[in-house]
Amino acid sequence: MLFPVTDLLYFIIVSRWKSTLLKACLILVAICLAYAAFTGRLMQLSQSCTHKQSKVTIGKLCDLYKSKIINGNLCNDICSGNIEYIDCLHSPRGKVVLLAQWKNQKIVLKTKHPSVDAYAPVYSVMENLEGIAEKMYPEDVIFKSLVESQAQTYLGTIIKEGDDVVDRFWFGNWSKDRLNTLSFHASMNSLWMLMSQDEYIFLKYHDTHPNVPQVLGACGYFYAVEYSPPGVIFEPEFLNIGQQLQSAPWQGRANIALGLLKLITAFDKSFPQKLYHCDVKEGNFGLQSNTEWATDAVVKVIDVDMVFYENKIGEIMGQGECVRDSDCDFFHCRGRCNQETRMCSPEIISSNLQVFCSNLFLPRHGKPGLLRYPPSSISKELAIVLEKCTTVGQSPRQADIQKELKRLLIKSLE
Ligand SMILES: Nc1ncnc2c1ncn2[C@@H]1O[C@H](COP(=O)(O)OP(=O)(O)O)[C@@H](O)[C@H]1O
Ligand SMILES: [Mg+2]
Repeated sequence: MLFPVTDLLYFIIVSRWKSTLLKACLILVAICLAYAAFTGRLMQLSQSCTHKQSKVTIGKLCDLYKSKIINGNLCNDICSGNIEYIDCLHSPRGKVVLLAQWKNQKIVLKTKHPSVDAYAPVYSVMENLEGIAEKMYPEDVIFKSLVESQAQTYLGTIIKEGDDVVDRFWFGNWSKDRLNTLSFHASMNSLWMLMSQDEYIFLKYHDTHPNVPQVLGACGYFYAVEYSPPGVIFEPEFLNIGQQLQSAPWQGRANIALGLLKLITAFDKSFPQKLYHCDVKEGNFGLQSNTEWATDAVVKVIDVDMVFYENKIGEIMGQGECVRDSDCDFFHCRGRCNQETRMCSPEIISSNLQVFCSNLFLPRHGKPGLLRYPPSSISKELAIVLEKCTTVGQSPRQADIQKELKRLLIKSLE
């Protein structure tokens, strides 16, 4: 069928107009997206924790405290407003991480689950003679051995003989708490929920180590740690243009890299056993807030969910069937496939140095890499040493590569 000429003209004009409008919309959307990505807004928008949720979370915690179900040295301050909520820092899938203000300093409140029901209770429920359900708490000695075995399961053999484990992990005075049954049960509930969080066990046990943030106290299932933000240098995508420029100078980045090398050495040498980090990304490390990162950066390991002792990492790596080595990788820790048995070997073939070089120093997944744009005086040598670093694995060359990297960074700052 033929169209009348007017219909045809109308059709051409409208369809052209529509396609121009569509193109204009697409360009506008692209400009908005580019702008949002550039200023870091996109990342902030995708963070879905809200102030409203955080306030509900704190409200629930304080209801439990008022009902004497939980306690802890920070409950009073959290529930009276002396510790003041500022912001939430966590991603939708992670644990709850809140930024707060306490006595003129920022602190970070953390918990794996923000609800008492998510933790296995330390008491058992039994019916009494009248058929009424009663909570039966363990005896003090039994409770202490439960705490000890929980710590041992996570930390392995490093718990020292004679350590009073309860005192090591609790912020109150355990013997004094025992005098009042109700508050003693609240203490047991609280310490048990803390001991159900691997991260708390690690941080509290090692919190005098310079690369570990200090644990300042606890209330129920929440614990407070020293504020050590990833900061302007570590998370450039969160920044506006001004901050991005501020994060650019080489001096700051080289100092942070030197701080990271110190942390790698500490992981190898200054804990009871060698430690392995299997989740090496910018947001999992922070800078000690009272030091000048541009001259002397102290890097803290703020997310230790994927940090394991040598005796544990073997167990983790040696699980499952495989065809090739990469089938045995555990996040950033690389494993080996035993080609005869087609089972993963209980060993790790990557080193911390290698993973830090690949994931933090060099560009990765759209991140620019901490050691981007080095001064020309070291750029060639640095590229060579970083290349070697990404393939070093557990080989004895590690020490030389690390020394060479340190030498170049120091040279670049002279
Ligand atoms: N001690 C801290 N100081 C400052 N910011 C922190 C601290 N701990 C965590 N954060 C912030 O909260 C974010 C999430 O915390 P993290 O422990 O990494 O949780 P997740 O297990 O969900 O990754 C971090 O990426 C960081 O931005
Ligand atoms: Mg993290």
